[in-house]
Amino acid sequence: MKPPFYITTPIYYVNDVPHIGHAYTTIASDMMARFARMEGREVLFLTGTDEHGQKIQKAAQAGGTDPKAFVDQVSERFRQLTPLFHLSNDQFIRTTEERHIQSAQALWAKMKERGFIYKGGYAGWYAVRDEAFYAESELINGKAPTGADVEWVEEPSYFFKLSSFQEPLLAFYRDNPHFIGPETRRNEVIRFVEGGLNDLSISRSSFKWGVPVPDDPDHVMYVWVDALANYITALGYPDENAADFKKFWPEALHIIGKDILRFHAIYWPAFLMAAGLTPPKRLYAHGWWTNEGQKNLKICGQYNRSC
Ligand code: ME8
Ligand code: MG
Repeated sequence: MKPPFYITTPIYYVNDVPHIGHAYTTIASDMMARFARMEGREVLFLTGTDEHGQKIQKAAQAGGTDPKAFVDQVSERFRQLTPLFHLSNDQFIRTTEERHIQSAQALWAKMKERGFIYKGGYAGWYAVRDEAFYAESELINGKAPTGADVEWVEEPSYFFKLSSFQEPLLAFYRDNPHFIGPETRRNEVIRFVEGGLNDLSISRSSFKWGVPVPDDPDHVMYVWVDALANYITALGYPDENAADFKKFWPEALHIIGKDILRFHAIYWPAFLMAAGLTPPKRLYAHGWWTNEGQKNLKICGQYNRSC
């Protein structure tokens, strides 16, 4: 019997409509899902949308709509890629679904119960476009290394003990040489982790558009904790006895762009280990389509009337 195969795309931010970069990742994943089905493997192919966080809240405000109405509308544009490109995804997940809110909260509660979350205060730089925290030393001419604008954030926050995972992660990369592909990306991640890991701020208290932190409604989860959890929500987590969870986890291949490698290669396995779960089998980070040096592309024409 060939092993089951779980393949995922990133869940895309709904701050903007789909473009060819999103289509690229999803079509490549679709091809692999179809190939695995032809091989006689049982396949679960997942895609969907990432709908919380400051970036989405800002986009909704800019459009003059309330966040829920806004995400409903934009998420639908991503869902429409399935008939448009004849995709064979088995599920389309949205992080605003009740099943996902429950799953993200359960993951948080598990990490907390096992001693990996504590309360403190964050004071540092944040790039809304990347939904990422940056150390002062990472900034280049006052901007994130990605070129995104940063803002100073100072607020009460929960932290994840990422610093405790430096050794466990390095051991995991060593024991699972195929965890990160291609090789150059693997080396990049190992070098970064060898440089040391700081604890990670994992909640925000200055805005509301997110999954509420269990037992502390003044905080919403940092959107990357919420987003990464989608991969197990779709399998039925927090019910670890759910049929799909038992069948497909950790037999997972996460296809991503290189922009989100750090979140998947460092944070995600650390969150899972903290919750007592096994990290996924493999990540593959592809490069970018660019247009005059920019990776932000849009398909304009008959299918995209917003251009
Ligand atoms: O990062 N070339 O969502 P996102 C190639 N919500 N691929 C591209 C691309 C380009 N120019 N532009 C985008 C997020 N992509 C998070 C993910 S996952 C738990 C959360 C593809 O809407 C590529 O796969 O910014 C990239 O990683 C992804 O879209 C980023 O989509
Ligand atoms: Mg992006």
